[in-house]
Amino acid sequence: MAYPLIKIAPSILSADFMRLGEQVQEAEAAGVDRVQIDVMDGRFVPNITFGAVVVKCLRPLTHLQLEAHLMVQPPEDFIEPIARAGADTIIVHQEATPHLHRAIQHIHSLGKKAGVALNPSTPASLLSEVLESLQLVLVMTVNPGFGGQEFIPETLRKIRQVRAMILERGMNCEVEVDGGINLQTAPQVVEAGADVLVAGTAVFDHQQGIATAIRELLAACQAVAP
Ligand code: DX5
Repeated sequence: MAYPLIKIAPSILSADFMRLGEQVQEAEAAGVDRVQIDVMDGRFVPNITFGAVVVKCLRPLTHLQLEAHLMVQPPEDFIEPIARAGADTIIVHQEATPHLHRAIQHIHSLGKKAGVALNPSTPASLLSEVLESLQLVLVMTVNPGFGGQEFIPETLRKIRQVRAMILERGMNCEVEVDGGINLQTAPQVVEAGADVLVAGTAVFDHQQGIATAIRELLAACQAVAP
């Protein structure tokens, strides 16, 4: 089943960091409602990126929702600094903390939206005790840590499972996917039930620029719209 309101969330991991502010503003002008900020600590994932300082620098430059994807362990150490820096949504990994419920409560106590990310090997069923508290579920369609990786087709089943869990509970919760999203995989994940598509390489490496990339991705998704 496809969802009429499909959103693209550019992942700044693939942006030109010499022009990061400009590129975020270009994405805003192209009509997205958010950007994803990939926070990596070199421990939870084998790569290091940036922390709250990038959220703080971007905040005054854009009205976009800033979505912080915490690929860090323990996420509890980063929730408050990222929230205070101006993130609107904070996504923690199910695998990164034994106290997931408390981490979600903490995010909400700071007035932010909460999301939980699932790595490719993590079953959707592990969300069952926290799902009702979430505004977003992020299904990783690659193993986290790097942009430009190949989409993992086995994750399509999990996207369907998560969408079914949300429908079953009558919730209004976004199903976001992340990793290897391009013109070929976008319709597949939308058909499986995703409504927010994180894209890094497909957006920032596009020859004709960010706006064209986003327009083409949305057009590819509409092909599976009801
Ligand atoms: C991977 C990151 C993704 C990545 C997506 O760990 O979380 O957001 O930037 O990049 P692409 O779209 O190039 O796979």
